[in-house]
Amino acid sequence: MATLRIPDEGRTLIDAEAVASYLRGAGIEYERWEAARPVADDAPSDEILRAYTEEIERLKARGGYVTADVIDVTPQTPALETMLAKFNREHWHDEDEVRFIVRGRGLFHIHPREGKVMALEVEAGDLIRVPRGTWHWFDLCADRRIRAIRLFQDISGWTPRYTESGVDKRYEPVCFGPAYLPQAPDQG
Ligand SMILES: [Fe+2]
Repeated sequence: MATLRIPDEGRTLIDAEAVASYLRGAGIEYERWEAARPVADDAPSDEILRAYTEEIERLKARGGYVTADVIDVTPQTPALETMLAKFNREHWHDEDEVRFIVRGRGLFHIHPREGKVMALEVEAGDLIRVPRGTWHWFDLCADRRIRAIRLFQDISGWTPRYTESGVDKRYEPVCFGPAYLPQAPDQG
């Protein structure tokens, strides 16, 4: 279940309905999904996609998404730091960023045009839809592991466009969830 923090107010929301409602106010959709049938979080990608067919089709119809895939990030992912560095600075996309977390955790910071920056820590079972144009950035948690279904309208629209505001530097990319592991000094 996601945790939402509003660091500037020292507030933390942990109740799913409260999280969803706060995010809705900023135009961000958040849902919990139950798999139509149980699927192991390390199952092959096509099995994962099959297990969530109903939800994926519903989202596709609603948001005009045409493709879905599964991204798998682990500490062994080649060029992991380079990849992460593309997304941990404030940016936006010309298309929605839609992620359903299958395994692992991650931290989305959302910066509404009006209102406080919020830090949404997502985990397995969480669906987030960040509409196109929303300022945001993303970090992995210390275990550097996430597996997620992604939906795309047009894969070329997903290039990050940076605000260069420097706002991201003001917020610690720290996760507080149960899977939080202090990072060993020799890990990147
Ligand atoms: Fe993004």
